[in-house]
Amino acid sequence: MSTVTLVPAGKTFDVNPGETILEAALRGGIVLPYGCKDGACGSCKAHLQAGEVEYGTYQKKALSDEERAAGQILICQAQPLGDVTVSARIVAAEGMVPIRKLPCRVASIEIAAPDVAVVRLQLPSADRFEFLAGQYIDILLKDGKRRSYSMANAPRDDQQVELHIRHTPGGAFTDALFGTGTPSINAVKVKDILRFEGPQGTFFLREDSARPIVFLASGTGFAPIKAVIEHCRTKHVVRPMTLYWGGRRPRDLYMMDLAEQWAREMPHFKFVPVVSDALPEDQWGGRTGFVHKAVLEDFPSLADHSVYACGAPIVVQSALQEFTAVAGLPEGEFFADAFTTAADKAKA
Ligand code: FES
Repeated sequence: MSTVTLVPAGKTFDVNPGETILEAALRGGIVLPYGCKDGACGSCKAHLQAGEVEYGTYQKKALSDEERAAGQILICQAQPLGDVTVSARIVAAEGMVPIRKLPCRVASIEIAAPDVAVVRLQLPSADRFEFLAGQYIDILLKDGKRRSYSMANAPRDDQQVELHIRHTPGGAFTDALFGTGTPSINAVKVKDILRFEGPQGTFFLREDSARPIVFLASGTGFAPIKAVIEHCRTKHVVRPMTLYWGGRRPRDLYMMDLAEQWAREMPHFKFVPVVSDALPEDQWGGRTGFVHKAVLEDFPSLADHSVYACGAPIVVQSALQEFTAVAGLPEGEFFADAFTTAADKAKA
């Protein structure tokens, strides 16, 4: 057994043989930032201050050779080789709830865009499922695989959870959902019973701050941001907020009406849709280009802001890099959930 000392908090916890630092921390009720748990997103990056680790399997985009040489590790993969000291922020989140496995029933499937399905799951009414708006669940497939999806709503009394699922051609789960590909054991239809594990992840509103917020979403990265914004409405959070939602074509912004409605109803909320590859038939008259560049055009300084970003890893990583380097955003004020696909995880 090894002991991990976390700085600056000074907390310690033990790691069993075969366990990663993150697994051991979560087992001990210590929540550190993480996302995919697969070495693909980089959300769990931390600094190894003393000791040695087995780095595990990961993608270079999550941890580059330079970062590794500078002492960075991915705690979702790293296993200590003896006692270690790790510098990592403990996520202070009141009400972080334990991860559980639960059944649910598919209540509805709605095709919101040609490649996006909105799936609503009904959770057991007798066994209340607690989560923080912005977290994700893993759907446990019959073949032993799992698929991670953000919950797109804040906790609701009717115990429903909404997922925004992008079609990944060739992916057994989403092919089945969109009615393409060969029927498989993973076919999903209304009234099916699924099993899931959650809630997971550390993407949720840090409520102990009054900083104005920039929300940055690409594609279905809108899902957890929708959940956080719903939470803000329920809790009457009136920090100035601007949502930038980027897609290749207008139809990728599959709930644009809802975002526009928020902007009409909340004086402190602005919505900026951004499209990168509009076709003439789209008749797009709004902002164009990369969504994170639109943020930089409007906010040359982000020094006083918090940014909540979710979407494709390239968008999230570009945003982090440029917002901190160019616009002076403090790194600790960038909260992100980078999507990783099953293919990403296979590469990890
Ligand atoms: S949580 Fe460790 S790389 Fe994603």
